Amino acid sequence: MQYDVTVIGSGPGGYVAAIRAAQLGFKTAIIEKYPTLGGTCLNVGCIPSKALLDSSEHFHNAETTFKEHGIDISQPKVNLKQMIARKADVVKQNVEGISYLMNKNKIDVYEGVGSFKDKHTILIKSQKEEKEITSDKIIIATGSKPSSLPFIKLDKKRVITSTEALELKEVPKHMIIIGGGVIGMELGSVYARLGAKISVVEFLDNLIPSMDGTMGKELQKSLKKLGFDIYLSHKVTAVAAKGKEVTITAENSKGENLELKGDYCLVSIGRRPYTDGLSLENAGVKMTDRGQIEVDEHLKTNVDNIWAIGDVVKGAMLAHKAEEEGVFVAEQMAGQKPHINYNLIPGVVYTWPEVASVGYTEEQLKDQGRKYKTGKFPYKALGRARASMDLDGLVKVLADKETDEILGIHIIGARAADMIAAGVTAMEFRASAEDVARMSHAHPTYMEAVKEACLAATDNRPIHV
Ligand code: FAD
Ligand code: NAI
Repeated sequence: MQYDVTVIGSGPGGYVAAIRAAQLGFKTAIIEKYPTLGGTCLNVGCIPSKALLDSSEHFHNAETTFKEHGIDISQPKVNLKQMIARKADVVKQNVEGISYLMNKNKIDVYEGVGSFKDKHTILIKSQKEEKEITSDKIIIATGSKPSSLPFIKLDKKRVITSTEALELKEVPKHMIIIGGGVIGMELGSVYARLGAKISVVEFLDNLIPSMDGTMGKELQKSLKKLGFDIYLSHKVTAVAAKGKEVTITAENSKGENLELKGDYCLVSIGRRPYTDGLSLENAGVKMTDRGQIEVDEHLKTNVDNIWAIGDVVKGAMLAHKAEEEGVFVAEQMAGQKPHINYNLIPGVVYTWPEVASVGYTEEQLKDQGRKYKTGKFPYKALGRARASMDLDGLVKVLADKETDEILGIHIIGARAADMIAAGVTAMEFRASAEDVARMSHAHPTYMEAVKEACLAATDNRPIHV
């Protein structure tokens, strides 16, 4: 078979690229090595983790806040088997949705590992058969896999990655998490809410360190209330599993040792780009020394008919970043001139309270030597937050000192994940803090905290603090 465009990998980068290419009139194929489409995000990432976050949050609320809301129920119990089964059903519905979209857009789906024979020919090997297709243009969207450390043996039973943590058969008694980033905080929250003791060992001096520093500090307070023990500035030196026990040894910046014993250890220290089995050398595609596929600003590799997108290239490892890149590449192939504003790709951590961020962090502005103003507003001063008892959190707005243009919006609090879209819109239209402060925001909503933080940033004139 001969195609105009072939996509290798069916995650959010790959399947979106395939749909956009098909919409633009290209004869399109997609190759996926697993039997279900949707990649990491739909199968073992975004969707199943959010399903478990929602279920565990319901349980936690039933145990904690229901009584105060005037809802008396007998002691709730965790049915982990049902929770995991519901999660599996959510995943099934989502991945079937992608198959439907492939059909609808007349995209040919091949199951098997895709590898380059040359720059236009791809071999597809599955357990059943081996096929060969040719393609004018090719998009590599093979994603990423969990990273580990050389001295850690991931046995996937007691020393696990996020993939196994989404499938546990029991609630851990004590889960030790290596890495205080996004995966650790989200999956740690799931099991803490279900009754596990959680200890986090983080190398740097803050949680979620890629976000604005205030967010990590505030999140720490909330997670400590949930029972997390957090060890910052600790470097893990050994992980040993024996029977049902896992022992983690770490060293802090003063050289003092820490030993923790638990029944599960979740290793969440980042993810690495995945190119195994692609035989990139047969097409002459270059990689960076960090194992990513090297691309230029158009996401084109060094080979003129091959592009790469998503987790396998530079930039944030986020589903929506991969999706934007999929559209970007397909539209370029059709001769269009699309654009991605990488600075305005939002980041969200789905803990409770949620954390959401767009634009520059305060640390980045300091590094740039840029003059800025800060406006903050606490959730506890919001009527809406009082009504729902979601009092933890704040909004922080950073604006240019001279022009008042918003440079960054950082929110920790209830529904931050959905609120950040308004921040992205404002910043895409290069709004000033005063522009947002003068817009009517419905009362009572959590978004009023954004308006108030903008009032604080404009001229230090918030109304409700
Ligand atoms: P992937 O989704 O990794 O897809 C790549 C696909 O390529 C895979 O299906 C793989 O099997 C296939 N493949 C690889 N090699 C070959 C080959 N040679 N032949 C055929 N097929 C191949 N991001 C968010 O934005 N929001 C979230 O809430 C979020 N939650 C996450 C939670 C967890 C636990 C994890 C692990 C990740 C989460 N992410 C989240 C990150 C998100 O999943 C990734 O950024 C996103 O999936 C990247 O998309 P992609 O298309 O680049 O690659
Ligand atoms: P991460 O990059 O978010 O966090 C890894 C953490 O581990 C960092 O804080 C880092 O300082 C720490 N670390 C690294 N080496 C260490 C060591 N030796 N000892 C102790 N700590 C160490 O990576 P994570 O959580 O594994 O997630 C991977 C990717 O998946 C993220 O980049 C994220 O983009 C994506 N993801 C996104 C989600 C979302 O958007 N809500 C949810 C989950 C994952």
